[in-house]
Amino acid sequence: MPERTDTRTPARAPSPDVIDSRSEPQLEPALASWIREPLDDAVDRRRRVIVPPAAAAMGTPLNGYQKQLMAEARRPDTVMMMGDNPELPKMPERPTLEDFFRLRFGPIAYTHLLQSARLAREQGLDEKVVTACLLHDIAIAGLLSANHGYWGAQMVAPYVDEEVAWAIEKHEALRYFPDESVGYTYPLAYIDYFGPDYRPPEYLRCEHEAARRHRWYMTSRLITINDVYSFDPSVTVDFGEYEDVVGRNFRQPRDGLGFDGSPVAHMWRTMIWPNNFL
Ligand SMILES: [Fe+2]
Ligand SMILES: [Fe+2]
Repeated sequence: MPERTDTRTPARAPSPDVIDSRSEPQLEPALASWIREPLDDAVDRRRRVIVPPAAAAMGTPLNGYQKQLMAEARRPDTVMMMGDNPELPKMPERPTLEDFFRLRFGPIAYTHLLQSARLAREQGLDEKVVTACLLHDIAIAGLLSANHGYWGAQMVAPYVDEEVAWAIEKHEALRYFPDESVGYTYPLAYIDYFGPDYRPPEYLRCEHEAARRHRWYMTSRLITINDVYSFDPSVTVDFGEYEDVVGRNFRQPRDGLGFDGSPVAHMWRTMIWPNNFL
């Protein structure tokens, strides 16, 4: 398989001549970063406005830009972003899991998922566990971080064994609670992320306790054991290593992820066109 390369280009602010020619006051740089100027070779010369989704904007200064961004879209040379964002690689008509890994997931998430799966496979663990490790943070990779275990489990549920989806959902709670019987301790990374005084909320405590009594507990626990954050940067991983595992454990829909009419197709479409206004 070809080495993965990140073909995306960084977001570009409007060129100075675009800004200078306008009669309105100059856009703040933070606001301008949500407006896509046409690429040099674009046939469609209109600017496109991206309105940050509520889940990303709430509680941040971005929320204050909503009105201005809506006003920008009323300019005759500007439309709301819908469909392919030229800053992102174009997805195939019938996207596969591999396409999302290669064309949508950022390098940190891509490496994290593949390294987790590799650790599981090197220990000779069941393919269900390897699959769960490969997919466990798929929501963080492409959709939403908050409640990522739950989002991730739903995203893959129609395509994997029920046990795999269950394990992905529960890893979110289990990650916070040690299990010394299998050598799992509280992640050092969480002390950095959340501070030493962080205590998980009650609902996660309840989820953890219920999960421990479940017959699939160890499948989910094994995700947390292989969920490591310190990687050797010299080690390379490629999705191609898991083609066989994915082929046996992920029921790729014939019409492509996002277009199979499943109850979760919209989640995959959101990753194909993450900047759609509606
Ligand atoms: Fe996770
Ligand atoms: Fe993880």
